[in-house]
Amino acid sequence: MTIRDLQFELFITQDDINKRVEELAKSIQNDYKDKTPTFLIILNGAFMFASDLIKHYQGECRVSFMRLASYRGTRSTGNISTYLEAEQLENEDVIIVEDIVDTGNSIEYIIQHLKTKNPKSYRIASLFHKPDAYKKSYPIDYIGISIPDKFIVGYGLDYNGLGRNLPDVYQLKTS
Ligand code: IMP
Ligand code: MG
Repeated sequence: MTIRDLQFELFITQDDINKRVEELAKSIQNDYKDKTPTFLIILNGAFMFASDLIKHYQGECRVSFMRLASYRGTRSTGNISTYLEAEQLENEDVIIVEDIVDTGNSIEYIIQHLKTKNPKSYRIASLFHKPDAYKKSYPIDYIGISIPDKFIVGYGLDYNGLGRNLPDVYQLKTS
């Protein structure tokens, strides 16, 4: 599979993703039985994961959004900008919903932003995690799938804005 100048190969099928997303929703549900959590969805990458996750979540919940950008091409820049601020999180039990935690720069930025909103509690749910690239120590409470430190696209994740619509996930081919 080709996106512009890069070659990708199938890495994780939509079936495998769906199963894992359903399991994550169940385990969050179990932990938040007597609460009304707010899913804080980090745009753009997490939109597809978040949509499936909250459809599987069978409990009272709220949804909020925050928009960030940090990637250029296939590299994390560490240079993060906010395009849309999270709102109304005071005293809420927040679950940050991320597509992937790579170096951890974004999650650190999000946590710092979130703390200024005085939530009652927060946890992190990320569909993918690259433990070998992670440079921070915030616990990732709910991890869908841990993957090697290689660039992936699909299911919301992009390469220079492209590939987010792919239902399966592809990994960069290295020659
Ligand atoms: P971090 O700040 O390095 O942890 O990177 C986090 C953000 O970079 C994620 O929320 C993604 O949007 C993006 N990102 C990290 N790794 C990948 C990848 O393999 N493919 C596409 N986007 C990625
Ligand atoms: Mg992201």
